[in-house]
Amino acid sequence: MSEPQHQDPPPASDPDSDPPRRSRWLGVLIVAFALVVGLGMFNIGRLIIRPKPEVTAADRLIEASPRLQQGRELVTRSSDCMRCHTMELDVVGPGFRNIAKRYADRDDAVPYLARKIREGSVGEWGRIVMPRHPQVTQEQAELMAGWLMALRPANAPAASPP
Ligand code: HEC
Repeated sequence: MSEPQHQDPPPASDPDSDPPRRSRWLGVLIVAFALVVGLGMFNIGRLIIRPKPEVTAADRLIEASPRLQQGRELVTRSSDCMRCHTMELDVVGPGFRNIAKRYADRDDAVPYLARKIREGSVGEWGRIVMPRHPQVTQEQAELMAGWLMALRPANAPAASPP
């Protein structure tokens, strides 16, 4: 007369008679958390995508001027400039916006840079040599330099009277 070894498992608690209160709150919490995270990501994305005001000012100026657009095309498409330069970052050569920033206060920035583009440069930014560009004409070099200087941050008209 041993005790029965096997018993039926105890009946599972009836879900209807015992509503899962706790898991409902957990659900609400998870949804709220997901909402906060989602909104946060959206906001970060917005901040990343929003262009800097100085960038939009330069863009407006360029869009209004065929000569500046011509200069942009010459630099970004027709020549080898983008092999060593980018808009923002210093890679082999300095970033174009950094060049514009550096010479922003020089009245002769456009002729100076036009000469550098044609004759090459070394020692201004580092020890890497920028090669000469004899195939670039004087007029093309000035268009290029004009576009470059339009990228300068405080895009006030060049020399303001004292
Ligand atoms: C082989 C790489 C290379 C190519 C191609 C190149 N650059 Fe450069 N660029 C450089 C380097 C390196 C410097 C920094 C030179 C220095 O320190 O004086 C520079 C500097 C410059 C400067 C600033 C010069 C100064 O005196 O501050 C300008 C403007 C410039 N490049 C424009 C151009 C344009 C426009 C083109 C296309 C026609 C071009 N670069 C093609 C590597 C290059």
